[in-house]
Parts: sequence; structure tokens; C-alpha cells
Amino acid sequence: MNLSSLPDDLAPQCLPQHIAVIMDGNGRWANHRGLPRIAGHRQGAKVLKDLLRCCKDWGIGALTAYAFSTENWQRPAAEVDFLMVLFEKMLRKELKKMHAEGVRIRFVGDLSGLSPALQQEMSRAMTETAHNQTIDFNVAINYGSRSEIVQACQQVAQKVSRGEMTADAISEETITQHLYTAGCDPDLLIRTSGEQRLSNFLLWQLAYTEMYFTDAFWPDFDRSELHRALLTYQGRDRRFGQATDRVAVGHRIVKPALTA
Ligand code: IPE
Ligand code: IPE
Ligand code: MG
Repeated sequence: MNLSSLPDDLAPQCLPQHIAVIMDGNGRWANHRGLPRIAGHRQGAKVLKDLLRCCKDWGIGALTAYAFSTENWQRPAAEVDFLMVLFEKMLRKELKKMHAEGVRIRFVGDLSGLSPALQQEMSRAMTETAHNQTIDFNVAINYGSRSEIVQACQQVAQKVSRGEMTADAISEETITQHLYTAGCDPDLLIRTSGEQRLSNFLLWQLAYTEMYFTDAFWPDFDRSELHRALLTYQGRDRRFGQATDRVAVGHRIVKPALTA
């Protein structure tokens, strides 16, 4: 099947507007080939690049990718160093093209914990692409959902103590707006490599997200794998807590308005 445009069996009006991916299995992919783990990371980066292009071609508005967790610092220093250099190199190499294709890049996570050189590349990429509108590409680096929620609480508490808002005025929206991701909840979460856990990713944002788990390792996650994930998504009924007879059977992609 030619997958350069949206496959015929996918309904454009029922696509997830925002896909999040936990890109897992790089190391095992490499092990299975008798290669060092870093070969898996290198291939994984290529796959991410192609997936972003595919999302853009198929009309998906946002892609959020988990690239490095706050817990990943516990890996051997050589692997961590390799990943940091890979992020920097990829950014340097791909920025121009992504910008030309209308990609708006954002990095989410505790960026202050990264090297100054990487921080500089990231802030250049964010500034240069800030007004692009074709697709939002969010990369979670040094990201941990619990610490994201803690820092949001701290910021809100500071506002209360400065008298800028009252404690009673704190709403779900307030917390959402203080997260790194500020108000873009994914419709679909994909995790590769057979693991079925969140590993501290977007705990708040995934409240009503559809989850899709596949045994494929991330470096094998190509357009036909995404196609399969989207077919599964289109077979789901998203009810957002409403009674089954209140929603149409079939695809449901937007949060329905609450009626009396
Ligand atoms: C995901 O692949 C990439 C990162 C976490 C950076 P892994 O490196 O976790 O691969 P496995 O899970 O060991 O196979
Ligand atoms: C999650 O994968 C983090 C990223 C994909 C960046 P891990 O491989 O670190 O997760 P665990 O350790 O299997 O939970
Ligand atoms: Mg892993």
C-alpha cells in the first residue's frame, strides 16, 4: 500500500488530533541484531523523523514524543552522553528542513538540567519555529510527569502567596496552564516494545486518552505500524464518562458537550 497519503480505510474526520508516543525498545532492537544499544537509539531517531513527516502528511495536528525521562539519567554515562549528543546533532541537522515544512517545535521537561549547548540549540529551534502552523512537534526531554505537576503546584502556590489569586480560584484549568505542555491533551498514546506502563509520562494529560500498546520495537515503528494504531483508534468509542446510550456508536474523537 502507498502510505505517502492518508490510507483509504482511515477517515480523516476521525483521526486523533494529537498523538503521544513512548518510544521504547531501542536497546532490545539493537540486542536482537547483535548491535550496541546506541545503534538502536540512532535508528529510533530516524524513525521519529519519519513518523513526524507521516503525521504531517496525514493531517495530524500534534505529535509529542518521550525522548528522555528524568529517570533515564540512571543509565550508564556513555549511553546518556550518546543520547545527549544525538539530540543536539539531530536538531542541528534537521531544524532547517522542519522549519521549511512548517513544524513548530517545543521541548517539554526540565530543560535547565541539560547542557548549555543543547539548551541553546533547543531555544533557537523553539524561537525560529514558533509561528509555524503545519504540525506541533513536542519533544519531552528530561521530562518527568510528577515533577512537572510539582513545579506547577509551586508556581500556583507562589501566585497565591503573592496575592495574585485565591486558593479557591485554583481549578483544573489553572493546573493545566502551569504544566510544561500547557493544555494539549493527547487523543492517542502509543507505547512500543510490549511494555504497558506510563513510566512517568503525561500523568495529568492522559486522563481520557486512548492507549495503544504494540510489541513492535520503536526502531521498527514505521508508517504501516502507525496505520494499524490509527485503525484501532478509529474503532474505539470515547465516552468521557457519559452513558453508552448518550453517545453515537462508532468513532468519537471530540469531547462531547455536556447536556442536561
Ligand atoms: C527507549 O528505548 C529510548 C529511551 C528510553 C531513551 P530503550 O533504551 O528504553 O530500549 P529498551 O527498553 O532498553 O529496549
Ligand atoms: C520510557 O522508557 C522513557 C522513554 C521512552 C524516554 P524507559 O525504557 O525508560 O521506561 P521503563 O524503565 O521501561 O519503565
Ligand atoms: Mg526501555
